[in-house]
Amino acid sequence: MGSLGDDDASLAVMARRNPGLLLVAAEGERIVGSALGAWDGRRGWIYHVATAPDRQRSGIARRLVEAVEAGLRAVGCPKVNVIVLDTAKDAAAFWTAAGYTRLAASQYGRVLAAEDTARGGSR
Ligand SMILES: CC(C)(COP(=O)(O)OP(=O)(O)OC[C@H]1O[C@@H](n2cnc3c(N)ncnc32)[C@H](O)[C@@H]1OP(=O)(O)O)[C@@H](O)C(=O)NCCC(=O)NCCS
Repeated sequence: MGSLGDDDASLAVMARRNPGLLLVAAEGERIVGSALGAWDGRRGWIYHVATAPDRQRSGIARRLVEAVEAGLRAVGCPKVNVIVLDTAKDAAAFWTAAGYTRLAASQYGRVLAAEDTARGGSR
């Protein structure tokens, strides 16, 4: 994480707007995976799918994504998109295995926050 909008207050707003769509996988008290879903009324989005390195390839991300998809279907969302950074080396294989198709599109971003509050990237 670490992008703009990943601070606690922003995530709390996201959680209030998207009840039940921000998920973590826990083993005991340890969080081992995450998947944050959002529905903007037209598309569903999934952010920050990640599994702890020592727990990867055990189906955690697949189950989290399936749960977010189920939640999105339940609110009437017809399509879900994911933004995948080129630097996320294992992501392409994961999303392809999950049934997602790579779209011919580029992502453009602009920071709207005042410069003194802007930290890090702009995803
Ligand atoms: C991508 C990531 C989330 C996958 O999490 P995971 O819990 O290991 O994924 P799963 O175990 O649910 O994998 C489901 C399927 O995806 C495919 N897959 C997942 N990781 C893969 C890899 N490194 N190489 C090839 N295929 C992979 C496989 O088909 C896998 O099924 P299998 O293990 O039965 O072969 C994880 O590698 C990760 O956290 N990476 C760093 C963060 C990241 O890049 N996130 C994606 C940004 S959107």
